[in-house]
Amino acid sequence: MTTGSKPGARKRVGVLISGRGSNMQSLVRASREDENAGYDIVAVISNRPDAAGLIWAAEQGIATVVVDHKAYPAREAFEDSLHEALVTADVELVACAGFMRIMTDTFVTRWHDRMLNIHPSLLPMFKGLDTHARALAAGMRITGCTIHIVRPELDAGPILGQAAVAVDTGDTPDTLAEKVIRAEHVLYPEILKLYALGQIRADGDKITIDSKINQQGILFSPSI
Ligand code: GAR
Repeated sequence: MTTGSKPGARKRVGVLISGRGSNMQSLVRASREDENAGYDIVAVISNRPDAAGLIWAAEQGIATVVVDHKAYPAREAFEDSLHEALVTADVELVACAGFMRIMTDTFVTRWHDRMLNIHPSLLPMFKGLDTHARALAAGMRITGCTIHIVRPELDAGPILGQAAVAVDTGDTPDTLAEKVIRAEHVLYPEILKLYALGQIRADGDKITIDSKINQQGILFSPSI
């Protein structure tokens, strides 16, 4: 278990990435630009040694850790090391940001209500991979992204916030990905802030929201 934080202290957040880390960057920037952000990114951990986001995080003076899943014989051993890295960094909240490993129930339970994830669709639609191609194939006129609390079932768990973007007739998976990632970069810092500050809370699967966030041209729920 991690140590409890003092009332009013900024939550210590560890970000899990597997690649580019653009969402991680948006979380770091927001935490540094907003004195009321309610959280600090204290560690960036990747399961891939070549994750580009690691370089950026290190340049920002943030502790980076590689826990290479390929170096472990079994998922449980990998997750034990991941857990150890988070505990060593005294992390209180985990933000998955493009972390592309399926987690065991044991690991998820260790971080119950303390681990968030961003997914590039309006869950529960389009769980898993290739979300934008599947949204286009389904003829969706609106798609978006979701921040949810991680539960053992893949891409499931109480939804804390969503942002929607319009699907245009000329959109391709790539153009849709560009629109959605812009929404992700606004939504994740806002929701993590509200969660860190206790203004969005989970009671089992029920979410309570005390606060509202700026829309900035994107359809949000919670909205203004
Ligand atoms: C983001 O679009 C995120 O929503 C997605 O991976 C991308 C990571 O980009 N996550 C998932 O698909 C998780 N199932 P980033 O590394 O630039 O933040």
